[in-house]
Order: sequence, then structure tokens, then C-alpha cells
Amino acid sequence: MHFAERLYPQAKLENLLSAISPARNVIDLSVGEPNVPLNQQILSHIPDGFEALARYPKASLQQALLNTIRDWLCKRYSLDESSIDAQSQIAVLAGSREGIFMMPIALFNRELQQGLPITVAMPDPGYPIYQASAENVGANIYCITQAQIAQLTLNGSDTFANWADIDLMFVCSPNNPTGEVLTIQQWTCLIALAKKHQFVLVADECYSEIYAEPFKPVGLLEACKHIGNDSFENCLAIHSLSKRSGLPGLRSGFVAGDTKLIKLIQGYRNYHGVSLSPIQLKGSEAAWSDEQHVAINRAIYQEKFDVFTEFLGEYSAYELPQGGFYIWLDVGCDSEKFCQHLYQHYGVKVLPGHYLAVSDEVKHAVRQYVRVAVVCHKGEVEQVATAIKKSIAFFSHSNVVGDHVA
Ligand SMILES: Cc1ncc(COP(=O)(O)O)c(C=O)c1O
Repeated sequence: MHFAERLYPQAKLENLLSAISPARNVIDLSVGEPNVPLNQQILSHIPDGFEALARYPKASLQQALLNTIRDWLCKRYSLDESSIDAQSQIAVLAGSREGIFMMPIALFNRELQQGLPITVAMPDPGYPIYQASAENVGANIYCITQAQIAQLTLNGSDTFANWADIDLMFVCSPNNPTGEVLTIQQWTCLIALAKKHQFVLVADECYSEIYAEPFKPVGLLEACKHIGNDSFENCLAIHSLSKRSGLPGLRSGFVAGDTKLIKLIQGYRNYHGVSLSPIQLKGSEAAWSDEQHVAINRAIYQEKFDVFTEFLGEYSAYELPQGGFYIWLDVGCDSEKFCQHLYQHYGVKVLPGHYLAVSDEVKHAVRQYVRVAVVCHKGEVEQVATAIKKSIAFFSHSNVVGDHVA
């Protein structure tokens, strides 16, 4: 099946729930839309009226944004100002999704034109665009589980994958959906493998700013510097304002790293035609320049997670994510039945975990998992956590489930 004909996870969920009338108002936690307060100071920088749209975006606006992003990267990852060049090592994106989707075609255009097969490795379960980006170019797909990444670091072996076959590898940290964050050792192993086997390592770090203080996720570029890969050889990191600043509608992100790869991306994007409008450019510059609103958002997530922990902490299957805003929970029963029950009785929508899986093996392994995006209002968290708790108890008592969550 062509990837565009495959139902997106949220559309699949709509089908699953279509015949059900929920007993209460709907609280949708199936989509990763942050739902945090908009920052007025940032909004004030966005040009209003339509004048800004009467021209193609000026190069100077884009240059200013690139400089701001460079400054942000240096501050966030303790890099020297001279260690990253705004012009040649950063490219703006209309959101990280766009960057992820075009990555195989932008980086392997030449091989694809020559009919050479490429292989794309990706996290499984994971964000569906990795798989679609690979399928779009007819690439071979190689699934890597989070457990395999952990194994890589623990014994230092690289035997679980045929690394030599891989041309491009996506990793996601903080991970959607599991919430795991790669350690500096894990990054180091992956960077070394990318160098040894000459594949491109692409880190999707769009959740990098959602974490519980003082723990700060380590990033790929920082790890490169740590091990002396000063030119970020074979490495690219993708960031976005969607989660960090709660601005998914702005469609703004960037990719940074290896100069030769950024050049291919810039070249491809010139033709691809997805440049940011002046409104996006100005708004993005303001958002990357301000950390206060990000800290406020983090505190809001923290408060919400505290309530979830209070209600669900007794379950051994419940774990606080190390980063990002998802709870990845083994509910101990078929996740589709669980989602239907939760929606019908409590109006709460969450996503069956296997909707995010790629391989049949992982689809089976995560069949009892749901992904809960903690994007409800603070005042709704108790209601949601209670609903999840009652639903787990319902299935546990009706013996539909195994005993490990109760
Ligand atoms: C892991 C991951 N990567 C990328 C994206 C895309 O984000 P955006 O295109 O809004 O930057 C998402 C959105 O949910 C995501 O979960």
C-alpha cells in the first residue's frame, strides 16, 4: 500500500471510536498538540496585517533567524560561538515534520536517481513520518527498538544491526512515544557507528525542551563536540518550535549539523518551495530568543505530571517520561478495547500504542500500550487520571487483563 493511502494513527483512532457516543465532554489526549498559553511578548513580534505577505521573504530576515538559532544552540548545548556557522550549518524548516519527510530524498538524491537502493533505520514504535519518508523513496526499512539502543550502550557491541547496510538512521530523543532520552554514552556509540559505517545520523529532538528540571536532555550536537567530532560529520539534529514554544501552527523548525549535508538540504529546499513567510520568520526569531515562556511551559507540564504520578504511581507499569509530554503506559489489556472504554465512559481520547509501530513484531509487543499526551488543561488532569485509573481497574477486575498493572 502506498504510504499516503495508509490511515494516519489519529484517523485510525477516529474509525475505532466512530460508533461510540461519549458520556462526557471530549478531552483529546491522542494528539501531541501542546495546548499551553500563548506568549504575548512573542506574538507582539509577529507582523500583523497582510503587508508582510505581499513580498517573498527577504534573505535578511532568514539570516537574522539563522543567527538567533545559532545563538540558541550555543547557549543550550554549551557550544562555543565559533563552533557552528549559521549560514552553512543550519537550515530553517517549516516544522520538523517537513524536514524529516524530505531527508531521504534530499540527502540521497544522487543514489536514488541511479537506482541504487537505500536503507533507512528508524525507531519502532515511532513518529509515523520516518516510515513514510523512507517509503516515499522506496527505501528499505530497518526498525530499531529503544531496547536495542539501550543494549548498544550497555555492552558496547554493535551486533544487533547490520550497520553497514544503513544509509540514514532516525533517532528520537526525548522519544515519542516512550519518553526515553538518549544518554551521552548512547549518543557517542551512535556517532561512532555513523562514522565507522558512513551513514547519516538524524536526531529528531523536537521534544528537547520538555523535561523535569534540572535534568536537561543531552543533544546530538553537544555529544559530537564531546567526542571531538567538531564538524558534526554525518550528524544532523532537528528542532522545532511546536513543542518547545507551544506554537505548532507557526510551522517552524530547523536542522543543524554537517555542512555537506546542510548544503544538500538547502539545495533541495530551494526547489521544494517551502520557505517560511515573513510572519513565520519574525515569530520564530522572537520565540528562539526567549527562554522564559519555555520555562513556564515546563513548569505547567511538571504540575500535570505530578497529578498523574499521584493517581497512577501505584502501577508498576507507570513511569514518568525522562522528557517530552507523553505517558507510555501498559494498561494490561487490549489497547483498542481500553481506548473505546475510556472514550465511551469518560470522554477521554488516547492513542493505542501499536498505531505507532512499524514492524509486526513491535505491533504485537506494544498491543497493550497506550500513549497519553499530557496536553489537557491543568484543571482536567485529575479527571483524566481518575478515568485512566478506573479503566485499568475495570479491565483488571473483569479479568480481561494480565495481573501486572494492578
Ligand atoms: C517525534 C516527532 N517529531 C516531529 C514532529 C513534528 O513536529 P512539527 O512538524 O510540528 O515540528 C512530531 C509531532 O508530533 C513528533 O512527535
